Amino acid sequence: MDYFTRRKFHAPKLLNFTFAAIFGLVLNSFSAQTYPTFHEDIAPIIYNNCTECHRQGGLGPMPLVTYNDVFVYGEFIEMVTSTGFMPPWIPDHNYSHFRGERVLSDSLKLVLSDWVTGGKQEGNPAANPGVPIFTNESVLGVPDIALTMSEPWVQAGNMADQYQIFLIPTGVNTTTYVRAIEVITGNSAIAHHSIIGYSSDPVVIAEALAMDAATPEPGYVGFGGFGVALEDNLFGVWVPGSPPTEFPDGIGKLMEPGSYLFLQMHYGPTPVEEVDLTTINIFTADIPVSRVVDVYTLSPINFPEPFIIPADQITSFHATFDIPSDISLVSITPHMHLLGKSWLVYATSADNLDTIPLISIPQWDFHWQGMFTFPSLLKIPAGYTLHAIGEYDNTTSNLDNPFSPPQSMTWGEFTTQEMFIVFAQFVLYQPGDENLTFGGNGGNNACDPAALQAAYDSGYADGIASVVCPEPCPGDINMDGFLTAIDLLGFLSIFGSFCP
Ligand code: HEC
Repeated sequence: MDYFTRRKFHAPKLLNFTFAAIFGLVLNSFSAQTYPTFHEDIAPIIYNNCTECHRQGGLGPMPLVTYNDVFVYGEFIEMVTSTGFMPPWIPDHNYSHFRGERVLSDSLKLVLSDWVTGGKQEGNPAANPGVPIFTNESVLGVPDIALTMSEPWVQAGNMADQYQIFLIPTGVNTTTYVRAIEVITGNSAIAHHSIIGYSSDPVVIAEALAMDAATPEPGYVGFGGFGVALEDNLFGVWVPGSPPTEFPDGIGKLMEPGSYLFLQMHYGPTPVEEVDLTTINIFTADIPVSRVVDVYTLSPINFPEPFIIPADQITSFHATFDIPSDISLVSITPHMHLLGKSWLVYATSADNLDTIPLISIPQWDFHWQGMFTFPSLLKIPAGYTLHAIGEYDNTTSNLDNPFSPPQSMTWGEFTTQEMFIVFAQFVLYQPGDENLTFGGNGGNNACDPAALQAAYDSGYADGIASVVCPEPCPGDINMDGFLTAIDLLGFLSIFGSFCP
């Protein structure tokens, strides 16, 4: 932050450069002061965007916490951030926005690379904002129901990915309204993501329990699906640093007596044995859930040709689905396997004059898939068409291709088979939906400066990305030099009808 304020008062870069060329060494010591330093400028960026995973016991392969940690990786960090490899976030953030987005703005990337250019200076330790506390505790308080895996999972230290499905009975006696779902993973060194499915169908549950019983270890393997036909494939999703799933009043999920949650854990590779025991926190609603989140699924039945991906070529499929009534989209989840190359999902009006961008994933990466929740409910009017274009690279240049030489592929749940699915979670539209946001920090908080500050602080600790605000910056309501969710809330409190 300071770096930006300072830079403002200095001569433009080009001028500095000319001076440097003329005065050489003398000026070096002067212009050195205009370079960012670790404690003031770099630590906030790293803590906010990287340390959630890159810490002792985190998913990343090395900690990025101290000056020395970051110093050693400086050039590498510059590279992985400039290419967009880190922080991991597969949707194109210029196309659409989602909750919990992990994106470094171009200006923050520039600060990182200026730091490297400037010799990775340490700066004043007193200016370090302090390492955020990453707890593994609930951010929503005490859950109404805590559902824990029945046995711990032991992940071998063999550097292999593992996709395991654990069956957890919900144990409810009556229809239960769910307003929030939070995953508390038991081991952040291996927990890569979780997808939760739901079923109350005794036949399906029996089938899954039999698969579980067939092997001695807890649960059963499931790479591309749950192995059985579930009522809800997207009851909840977790990725490192993601906020819990929270629905606005009157919207949510149901749990019926006799039902089970199907917890799919993706465990990342580890060189040493690790143990996990994950818990799903359920927060029930006092206000009845009148709109249960439903899902449209686009799959190969939504395009005319057979789902066959021939060897040695790039193939794409274009699925369409006509929206029968006004809906409000909650989230979008494209899913494909290792041949996946890209996704483009959007909605168009019947006359094709209006296009609503939903998600673009220019470079699919199976490891970083997720359920992408819109910041607020997104209306799609009746008569619009959903489009999903999925592209597959079944050539040798796809390094993830499970076959060498490539082989013709078709539908299936295994690593050596493919999928084409887009889950679009929705509720039927009601006027005012556009103003309904997900997460507890919307609404009235925007009226209370102390609550705003607290939300800002917790956002920082949660690793919610902030972006440096280019000047002039009318959106930077709290004038801290960054655009964050807090500014949006501040903005709403100025113009919105939220405040008394
Ligand atoms: C969501 C978790 C997560 C976040 C956030 C994250 N990383 Fe990573 N990072 C990983 C994982 C996991 C790997 C291992 C490679 C992989 O799985 O893609 C990795 C790999 C790396 C590597 C390569 C290390 C090596 O030896 O190969 C660098 C460098 C890196 N990350 C830097 C960063 C920086 C800088 C940030 C923040 C701007 C960041 N990461 C944010 C999880 C994360």
